[in-house]
Amino acid sequence: MAEFKHKDIIALRDLNKEEIELLLSTAESMREINSRDIKKVPTLRGKTIINLFYEASTRTRTSFEIAGKRLSADTVNITPSSSSATKGETLADTALNLLAMKPDIIVMRHAVSGSHYFLSSKMPGCSIINAGDGTHEHPSQGLLDMLTMKDRFGRLDGLKVAIVGDITHSRVARSNIQGLTKMGSQVFLAGPPTMMPPGAERLGNVTVCASMKEAIQDADVVMMLRIQQERQGKTLMPNAREYSRYFGLNPENLKLAKPDAMVMHPGPINRGVEMSSYVVDGGQSHILKQVENGVAVRMAMLYHVCGGELE
Ligand code: CP
Repeated sequence: MAEFKHKDIIALRDLNKEEIELLLSTAESMREINSRDIKKVPTLRGKTIINLFYEASTRTRTSFEIAGKRLSADTVNITPSSSSATKGETLADTALNLLAMKPDIIVMRHAVSGSHYFLSSKMPGCSIINAGDGTHEHPSQGLLDMLTMKDRFGRLDGLKVAIVGDITHSRVARSNIQGLTKMGSQVFLAGPPTMMPPGAERLGNVTVCASMKEAIQDADVVMMLRIQQERQGKTLMPNAREYSRYFGLNPENLKLAKPDAMVMHPGPINRGVEMSSYVVDGGQSHILKQVENGVAVRMAMLYHVCGGELE
């Protein structure tokens, strides 16, 4: 069995296949706790976790908090509107002040790509977990997506995974590309040219498709991405109806994928734009299963950055 030797989890790019397998298998074990009447174990008793979210979140922040509480850690939430960031405090000063309170783990979401590496350099005695940084990575999302695919197919090796939408601004796409290709999946990307980064082939061992149809043809998994309007700076599509026509998933074009293909979306969803409600709520959708797996995956991440041995 692989050992997990990292202080931080900032990017799936930094983990090898064995470490990803270890996180997924620990998450599978953690699920048992989540199905008990009393969903609490003493594993991280005495540990302090600070959830520091500089960007909005529903799923990630809530599930990291639930994950910490189920492992008996003390969890504290800080949001920008309630922090001294509103008074101009820098991330470095925030880090030094939080460090003085001796937290064991900081889970941070930040709009600046790479900010977690900076935070980690300021906090030698504290683990840093990335809950999403700019357009860089969202490792817990990548892990929960892989766990959800593994649940469905029993493997990741050899799966054809289509990732469709705003590739340029998607940290979810980047973490999935890193994780899935290490696990032996084949990743196909499609999106409007305005939302496909120049040199997208260099994102990893991926195939960049000229159309959505090409990407989802015979796919095992169709992963739709949210249009990241808050990061685009300017409008990158003529209108939502046109986007939906060429890059939206609906019951008709879903037939191009394998008959038992999984439909996934990290959320939040723009219904009727990225996907029709028929697909979001349909039998092939695994979107709420992704959310459910998010708690177990985040429990596994918290457990392993703490050394994976605590009682
Ligand atoms: N998938 C995801 O990161 O959702 P939230 O923004 O709600 O955390």
